[in-house]
Amino acid sequence: MLIALKDIYKTYPMGTVTVNALKGISLDIEKGAFIAVAGASGSGKTTLMNIIGLIDKPTSGALLINGKETGALSRGEIVRMRQKTIGFIFQSFNLLPVLDVFENVELPMIIRKDSGSKAERREWVESLVEEVGLADRMRHMPAELSGGEQQRVAIARALVNRPHIIIADEPTANLDSENGRRVLELLRKVQKNEGTTLIISTHDSDIWKIAQTIVHLRDGAIASEERH
Ligand SMILES: Nc1ncnc2c1ncn2[C@@H]1O[C@H](COP(=O)(O)OP(=O)(O)OP(=O)(O)O)[C@@H](O)[C@H]1O
Ligand SMILES: [Mg+2]
Repeated sequence: MLIALKDIYKTYPMGTVTVNALKGISLDIEKGAFIAVAGASGSGKTTLMNIIGLIDKPTSGALLINGKETGALSRGEIVRMRQKTIGFIFQSFNLLPVLDVFENVELPMIIRKDSGSKAERREWVESLVEEVGLADRMRHMPAELSGGEQQRVAIARALVNRPHIIIADEPTANLDSENGRRVLELLRKVQKNEGTTLIISTHDSDIWKIAQTIVHLRDGAIASEERH
C-alpha cells in the first residue's frame, strides 16, 4: 500500500472548545490510484489533504507512506520525503508573486538541491511549462495571468520533482468550467502516463465521474467509500 491512514484524528484547540476536524479516518490508497474526496464545507477535506501531504500532522493515528510510519520521522526527514514524493496543488494557486512563471516552476527543484545542472533544470522546466500550455507565458508574473493559467503553473510546479503522489485541494474551485476541464485533463494525463497517484478534494461532479474511488467525508469521518 502506497499510503495508509490508520485511525487519524485532528483536533484544533480553540480557547475553551476544541474543534474535532477529523475523527478516526482509516483509508488505504494504492499506487496509481485516482481518489476524489467529497464532502460539505467544514467536513475536513483540507485538513485531510494537508495531513496526507505532510503539511500538517495528525493529533493521533498513523500515516504510512511507502510503509514508513511518518510520525517517527524527524522534521528534516519529513521535509525531504515531501520534496521527493509529493506534489501539492492548492485551491488558491499559492504562486510566489515576485517570481515569474519559469522561476515559480523551477523553485522546488532548486530547494531540493540534487536536481542537476542549471541547463538540465532549464530544459525540464521549459518542457513542463510547455506541457501545461503556457510556453508563451514563461516570463510572465503571476499577477499577469488568469486564474486558469495560474493553476496550470501550479500544476507544472507540483510536477517538477516527479512526485509519486499528487494532492490537489479543490484545484478547480476558483476556475470557470472550461479552465477547470483543462486542469482536470492535465492531472488525469499525468496520473495515466506516469502512474502517479492522484488525490483530489472537490465539489466538482466531473471529477467524481472519472475518479476510481470517491471518499465521502461527513463531520470529519468517512461516511462512505464508492468504487467505480
Ligand atoms: N487552523 C484551524 N484552527 C481551528 N479550526 C480549524 C482550522 N482549520 C480547520 N478548522 C476547522 O476544522 C473543520 C474542517 O475544516 P476543513 O478546512 O478541513 O474543511 P473543508 O472540508 O476543507 O471545507 P471547505 O469545503 O470549506 O474548504 C472546520 O470545522 C474548520 O472550522
Ligand atoms: Mg477546504
